[in-house]
Amino acid sequence: MIVFDAVRFSYNSREILKDISFSVGAGERIAFLGGSGEGKTTILKLIMGLIRPDSGRILIDGEDITCKTEAQLRDTRMKFSIVFQEGALFDSLNVKENVAFCLREYTKMPEEQIEEKVKELLRTVDVERAIDLMPEELSGGMHRRVAIARSLAATDPKMFLYDEPTSGLDPVNADNICKLILDLSRNGKGFIIVTHKVFDAVKVADRFMFLYDGRVRLDGNREDLLHATIPEIQIFLSELRYTQEEKNV
Ligand SMILES: Nc1ncnc2c1ncn2[C@@H]1O[C@H](COP(=O)(O)OP(=O)(O)OP(=O)(O)O)[C@@H](O)[C@H]1O
Ligand SMILES: [Mg+2]
Repeated sequence: MIVFDAVRFSYNSREILKDISFSVGAGERIAFLGGSGEGKTTILKLIMGLIRPDSGRILIDGEDITCKTEAQLRDTRMKFSIVFQEGALFDSLNVKENVAFCLREYTKMPEEQIEEKVKELLRTVDVERAIDLMPEELSGGMHRRVAIARSLAATDPKMFLYDEPTSGLDPVNADNICKLILDLSRNGKGFIIVTHKVFDAVKVADRFMFLYDGRVRLDGNREDLLHATIPEIQIFLSELRYTQEEKNV
């Protein structure tokens, strides 16, 4: 469904992605790992057509999106449900209005159905009780859930994109978000989760890509990740070993 073919990307002449090639099927469960600033969020923005590569091609369902107009990109974006790193709720709207906003924006649903749909979406992510709260009144975990509900309101996506969905959450809430991610992919819809938390990545994904110095340095399954000898990946894995040792004591 997604193909990156020799993609290069720079911000203000600073090269972030040097040569990125990979191919992802619609039902795959993928984790993009990598350190802060390596370009993980940049890759999601490229998939959504929010930014364009300097060179190389990006194909979504066989169509090259690098030369599409904004109007044509709208259809491409509808194929994805994205939860941005910041969660991105509107601070001045309560939970109900945040989710309803997307329904009004992206669907032709009549107002009387919108409230029912908002409740249903909040039920899906188990935060129905927060319907009248303002974003500032939510805990980090609830905030993430509402952001996920809001992204679900937008479309009936083919694939989910999550940018650091568990960062800043305690282990219980992070685990709940991981379960939610798996639940939402149950009917064969794949996802890409971008994260530097390898512990959460191995819970949900079965294919792992490790981004370092503008290139995909590893693309493999769980075994490939766990046995990788690349020093930068070893540092990531030490977090995993530490967490497992803690559990064993
Ligand atoms: N709008 C922008 N203008 C200029 N530079 C940017 C912009 N957005 C990101 N960058 C730079 O591009 C690089 C990659 O950013 P990106 O947000 O993709 O990293 P990341 O891997 O998602 O990091 P993190 O794990 O901290 O979220 C960083 O060095 C960042 O400073
Ligand atoms: Mg990021």
